[in-house]
Amino acid sequence: MPSNPYHWIEKSLSTIHKANWYRSVKTIESIPGATIKLEGKKFINFASNDYLGLAGDPRLIEAAIQATKEFGTGSTGSRLLTGHREIHQELELEIAKLKQTETALVFSSGYLANIGVISSVVSKRDLILSDKYNHSSLKNGAILSGAEIIEYSHNNIEELTNKLEQYREKYRRSLIITDSVFSMDGDLCKLPLLLDLAEKYNSMLLVDEAHATGVFGMNGGGCVEHFNCTGKELIQIGTLSKALGSLGGYVAGSKKLIEFLRNRTPSWIYTTGLTPADTAAALTAIKIIKKEPERRLKLWQNLETLLNLLETENQQLGAKKKNLNERSPIICFPLKNAAEALIIGEKLKQAGIFAPAIRPPTVNTSRIRISLMATHETNHIQQLVAALGEVISCPVE
Ligand SMILES: Cc1ncc(COP(=O)(O)O)c(C=O)c1O
Repeated sequence: MPSNPYHWIEKSLSTIHKANWYRSVKTIESIPGATIKLEGKKFINFASNDYLGLAGDPRLIEAAIQATKEFGTGSTGSRLLTGHREIHQELELEIAKLKQTETALVFSSGYLANIGVISSVVSKRDLILSDKYNHSSLKNGAILSGAEIIEYSHNNIEELTNKLEQYREKYRRSLIITDSVFSMDGDLCKLPLLLDLAEKYNSMLLVDEAHATGVFGMNGGGCVEHFNCTGKELIQIGTLSKALGSLGGYVAGSKKLIEFLRNRTPSWIYTTGLTPADTAAALTAIKIIKKEPERRLKLWQNLETLLNLLETENQQLGAKKKNLNERSPIICFPLKNAAEALIIGEKLKQAGIFAPAIRPPTVNTSRIRISLMATHETNHIQQLVAALGEVISCPVE
């Protein structure tokens, strides 16, 4: 037996290195945007979740400064004690309007919203049906709940139906959980079919709109709006940290659901309320999203520009794109393995493009993941396609 109980950490790290799974932080040295400074150099940024380019918007910055001056840096306690301000309520009202739900509840992050909500609405006697490609926060929320978890193959409605048919009756409650836009693949869940199944099998449905809020739907209401499913009874989770350019998470749904969560969800009750700065920035972002639909339009135009360039200039590369027919600002190019993904990520960096490799255990198959922003210019996208063509089409030595 080793004498040092921490000895295993070094061994574990060495295994991570050997598998090319080792991760480390990269220091961004500039304000967020379509271009960023990294290691003293400028890069075109295709790695950000700031889809509408709001994280560096002067109006969000100003709102955060004003809220900090008025209410201080920290919210000083949980929402039920000293951590609640009027701007929290204002933000919740705006989220509910955006999502067209009765009400909403703001969490300190999207991760906390997912683990808290899932583990509050189901427990030991219940069933969770979970898409295999779901985000870590949904998966860990499911584990935390203690419910029976049955995974179904990615977006496989037939398999989900069979599993519901086979297992639903054995459990008290049932909950289907899914990303609405899959974070590492960019494809969309089949929401209308999921809603039908939920109804047929008396199951709740929870969708994570993290990558859809502000991006999909005529008004930025997410995939629920995109699929014309607004107003249907379901549990909608989201984040304030992607298209809304701030930090925090939310759940939107019925008044009864939110009332229950306020009383039962540990990751909301026992944690400090969202800071005034984050709250004010998110509130301003939602107002901008409403007032400036042209941002969303520009994002979708940028996607068309990218797809057209792939079609006209490098069909071989275009054919390598995952989910060829899907329209989403998340675009992936699958690669052989983690080592190849690392090499290609590095070569893109040498070409001035920041789009790092995504590797296991985040995903099963390594890839380069591109995320588009409304603030990308045509020449940024042209440079991306040229660089991808150079590094992905050529065999890696
Ligand atoms: C699908 C999905 N859900 C939830 C989260 C977590 O959100 P947050 O960053 O607000 O914790 C993420 C973040 O990466 C995500 O991609």
